[in-house]
Amino acid sequence: MEKTFLMVKPDGVQRGLIGEIVKRFEQKGFQLIASKLTVISREQAEIHYAEHKGKDFFERLVNFITSGPVFAMVWHGDQVIALSRTMIGKTNSLEAAPGTIRGDYAVHTNLNLIHGSDSPESAQREINNFFQPNEIFTYSKNIQEWI
Ligand code: PPS
Repeated sequence: MEKTFLMVKPDGVQRGLIGEIVKRFEQKGFQLIASKLTVISREQAEIHYAEHKGKDFFERLVNFITSGPVFAMVWHGDQVIALSRTMIGKTNSLEAAPGTIRGDYAVHTNLNLIHGSDSPESAQREINNFFQPNEIFTYSKNIQEWI
């Protein structure tokens, strides 16, 4: 079992896609164990995208991600890091396959709706950048108990 960090970016929040995106990961069978709607600081954004510092798009990316609320999440499940990246689709919207989140909803490469961690190391670093340990929960998925 793994944890990953997913974030609906400002364009996804403003387009009203939080529910659709959460639904896809719930229906796949993954478990939401933390979430928050938050505006991130420039410092937090620079930590999040530190590996891209110096690239020509870095300033644009930091300006964009701090421009409005994001919906930050931690998801738990078997192979959730790789599978969520598959469900998100390629960065370039021209290459993102239909059926993926970006393939179905994104038009621009730089307005691509959602971020997902690409490795266990980046997942842990990104989770730590957005959540305190007491904001992350474990609970059993026991449908029989409730219906
Ligand atoms: S790289 O250089 O291959 O590592 O970059 P990539 O993995 O494709 O993208 C890294 C993140 O930068 C965003 N990105 C951009 N933002 C704005 N403008 C341009 N041109 C641009 N190109 C890439 C891209 O959406 C990735 O963000 P995340 O949040 O990780 O998906």
